[in-house]
Amino acid sequence: MARTRNLALATELAQAGDFLDPETRAIVPPIHPSTTFARDQDYNLGSYSYGRDTTPTVHVVEQLMARLEGAAASLVFSSGQAAATAVFEGLPSGQEIVAPRVMYHGLQVWLRRTASQRGLKLVFFDAARPDELEAVVIPGKTALVWIETFANPTWDVMDIAKAAHIAHEAGAVLAVDATVTPPVTLRAIGLGADIVFHSATKYLNGHSDVLGGVLSTCTVNDHWQDICTVRTLVGGVMGPFEAWLLMRGMRTLDLRFERASANALKIAQHFENHPAMASVLYPGLPSHQGHDIATRQLTGGFGGMLSLRLKGGEYVARALATKTKLFRPATSLGGVESLIEHRIAVEHPESAVPRDLLRLSIGIEDAADLINDLEIALGAVNPDETQGAKRSQ
Ligand SMILES: Cc1ncc(COP(=O)(O)O)c(C=O)c1O
Repeated sequence: MARTRNLALATELAQAGDFLDPETRAIVPPIHPSTTFARDQDYNLGSYSYGRDTTPTVHVVEQLMARLEGAAASLVFSSGQAAATAVFEGLPSGQEIVAPRVMYHGLQVWLRRTASQRGLKLVFFDAARPDELEAVVIPGKTALVWIETFANPTWDVMDIAKAAHIAHEAGAVLAVDATVTPPVTLRAIGLGADIVFHSATKYLNGHSDVLGGVLSTCTVNDHWQDICTVRTLVGGVMGPFEAWLLMRGMRTLDLRFERASANALKIAQHFENHPAMASVLYPGLPSHQGHDIATRQLTGGFGGMLSLRLKGGEYVARALATKTKLFRPATSLGGVESLIEHRIAVEHPESAVPRDLLRLSIGIEDAADLINDLEIALGAVNPDETQGAKRSQ
């Protein structure tokens, strides 16, 4: 029997929604690998038809996601990119999309390509200067405003309620990439977002072993129906095995996020006034430009993502990323293990990301071990080596 009480998200997550298998009373959702589902004796379809539409395993994740977001519906995709691009696929040509200048680079590359191919106009704004948004959103012209908060990898914080007001006044849709602030800390629909996006590859799954994306909507309207159609026609649905793993990962989201947030705050505080650092970018620090808005918007921690800007510049940043032993020099984020990345190395040529910036994804290890690892690596960076690299440029 479905529960009626409002429960904390930690409880919903730990119990996989209120899942209980009606036939077997199993408390873990099963995997249904079948790609096709039989019609009944009257030749009618049941809830499922073909695996490219959806499957029962995907549906269980979607139900839980909708509850977490306070959404009317959620859709799970085979990657974050498959989900995010589906939001733009249905837009008629000639319309304008507004997006931040610094955002997840893969989506920006796709937007730049698609806009030129499809006659969509792309307008960028600076998320560090939120007033710019008001200037670029034009009533009757702007169809969709895409924001990312916190913005990867500077972690600029957008005021979602304000962005929603600006978008809605202009008759536009507000979509929020909330990948680094999952619903255990941010519920963007409650703040006015129309669509919320997560790369489920990151915190939702949390173990760096599943690619996935999720969209949630505040209302099931024509745009949402279009997004559902795009998923079916393009074949962007997540497979049942991945959906099962994703659900397994999500059950510990609350705990993982709490620990990663606590670790990241300790690391940010340790390096904030460190002689090797030009600055530490972490919204949990009062010195961060977006700290006040983040404090107002978030109900849990500030998350595990932070960036270090090195006084020694690009070469010291790059060298440091090769010297750590616990932090793995790898892309991606939101997993239980800590990662370090010289971000400009993977960005697109027009990227506005500072060249002295190292992006850290803080995991759930011991904070003191992580701080020691960075300190030892800093001590191992040979300034002569970096000078040589500078000269050979
Ligand atoms: C903020 C953000 N949005 C979107 C994506 C794309 O997601 P995926 O890699 O799952 O396709 C990523 C991936 O790094 C991301 O960090």
